[in-house]
Formats: sequence, C-alpha cells, structure tokens
Amino acid sequence: MSDWLGLKDKVCVVTGAVGGMGVQICQALAAQQATVVALDMDQAKVADLVTQLINEEHIAGLAVSCDVTKETSVQHAVDQVKDTFGHVDVVINTAGILKFDPLENLDYATWKQVLDVNLNGYYLVTHEFGKLMITQKHGTFVHISTVASDIPETYSGAYSTSKAGVNMLSKQVAAEWGMFGIRSNVLEPCLVKTPMSAAFYADPQVENGRKTLTASKRIGTTTDIANAVLFLASDRSSYINATGLVIDGGFSVMMQNQIPKPGGRRGFAETH
Ligand SMILES: NC(=O)c1ccc[n+]([C@@H]2O[C@H](COP(=O)([O-])OP(=O)(O)OC[C@H]3O[C@@H](n4cnc5c(N)ncnc54)[C@H](O)[C@@H]3O)[C@@H](O)[C@H]2O)c1
Repeated sequence: MSDWLGLKDKVCVVTGAVGGMGVQICQALAAQQATVVALDMDQAKVADLVTQLINEEHIAGLAVSCDVTKETSVQHAVDQVKDTFGHVDVVINTAGILKFDPLENLDYATWKQVLDVNLNGYYLVTHEFGKLMITQKHGTFVHISTVASDIPETYSGAYSTSKAGVNMLSKQVAAEWGMFGIRSNVLEPCLVKTPMSAAFYADPQVENGRKTLTASKRIGTTTDIANAVLFLASDRSSYINATGLVIDGGFSVMMQNQIPKPGGRRGFAETH
C-alpha cells in the first residue's frame, strides 16, 4: 500500500507555505507525490521551496506569490492553478499572524489587521478556490485554526476571535457546499514550535513549564501537524466533514489536573 492516503498527483494548495507549518505541510504532501502549489507573500522564498520539492521528490509544483488579504492576488492565484493544472483538489489555509497587546492598549488598526489575514484571508481563499471546486463537484478544505479558538489567547488581541470565525466559516462551507462534494474541516493545534511561537520557547524553563501542561508531556512538532493535515486532506477522511481535530498532546483536558491537592494529586490518591 504505497499510496494509502491516495494523495498522489492531487493538486494541493497551501497558503502560508513558507511558514513553520507551511513548509512541513508542503514537504509532507510532496513526499506523498502530491502536486504542491505553494502560496505565500515572498516570491523568492516560495520559488526556492517549490524548486527544492521538485528536485527532491520529482513532483509537479507551482510557486505563487500571493497576499491572502487581496482579492485580486487570490484570484490571480486561482487563475495560475487553473492555467497550469486545470483543477484543484485540496486547499490548506495556513497563512496567519499573531499580535500581542492587552485589550485596553490594542489599537484598532492592529485588531483589523489580524482579522484581515486570519479570517478574511481564509474567506477569500476559500471563496475563490471554492467556486472552482463547485464547478468540478469535488474538493477538500483544511483550515488551520487553534485550540485558542475556543479558549481566549489572552493579551493577543483579535487572534482568538479570528480563529473562532474560521471554525464557523469552515462549518458554513461544509453545510452549503457539501452537496457539491466539498468537505471542510479545521485543525486545532496548540503548543507547536514554529517561527510564530519561537519566542515562547527561548527560555528552557518556560518550555518545560509548557510541556508539563500537556498530557503527552512534550511540545508539538510541525510534523505532528503535517501528518494530521495529510489525513484530513485525503479521502481516508472522506466522511469527516464540518468538524475539528484538536492536536495539542491532550493539553485541553488537563485543567482539572492543575488543581492542587495536598502531597500532589498522584501522591494524594496513593495515600488516601
Ligand atoms: N505555532 C503554533 O503554536 C500555532 C498554534 C495554533 C495555530 N497556529 C496557526 O497555524 C498557522 C501557521 O502558523 P505558523 O506557526 O506556521 O506561523 P508562521 O509565522 O511560521 O507562518 C505563517 C505564514 O503565513 C504567511 N502570511 C502571513 N500573512 C500573509 C498574507 N497576508 N498572505 C499570505 N501569506 C501570509 C507568512 O509569510 C508565513 O509564511 C497559523 O494560522 C497559526 O495561527 C499556530
């Protein structure tokens, strides 16, 4: 079973392709012999990535310079995919930004900037590629959301609000376009080391503190994320629609475990 996921030759678009998760997702797709369309803002970087994938994995690929907040830029990306490959199979929305400030200090421009990339950008990419998917009568969306779409990411302005919007956008896409053979799901990661989160891991003590909050006692890797993306992108998840996959090493269920007990929670249980 060399092509268990069935992604060989599937045209897969990845936004935020040269970011921490984006690169790993593109590499994982290429390793499955998928056709990789890498979208990001820096033309030179996407071109380098796609050249490397073509050379290493002997796949077909396309590098597209695209700002997901600009309608014409996204439409141009769809045109390039149509002209080159004629169709699209999978779109993975990954492009995102994170800005910090206590709410009372946050300026309106920053609030809007985060919503523009994280929510409006996902919408534009989904809307423009979705029209093509509807004509084809098939397609799959995987949107990178976050555990912080359900729990506020404090002092991070519009980040949680934007991702909560992504969760609902994904459900609406599934509900309206399911009849056209289109699926839409979100991945909800937490505690993954990438350029976006690198500053949180600069201090080993902070990193250790973060590990202890998870059930798995480790920080997530971009490979963990890419593996889950492959599954949701593939027909192996063909009856999974309008839902979310939490990928956080069990962090979300550890709240109760944070409540102190005399002698420690395990110690208490062993002595009572
Ligand atoms: N790192 C984590 O712990 C974590 C956890 C949960 C969710 N996420 C989400 O995962 C996704 C990827 O995050 P990452 O950690 O790889 O971040 P990253 O900063 O490494 O990559 C983000 C990429 O998005 C691109 N981008 C930003 N604005 C863009 C625009 N307007 N148009 C096109 N591309 C644009 C950037 O150029 C960059 O390559 C994001 O949506 C993020 O919110 C990350």
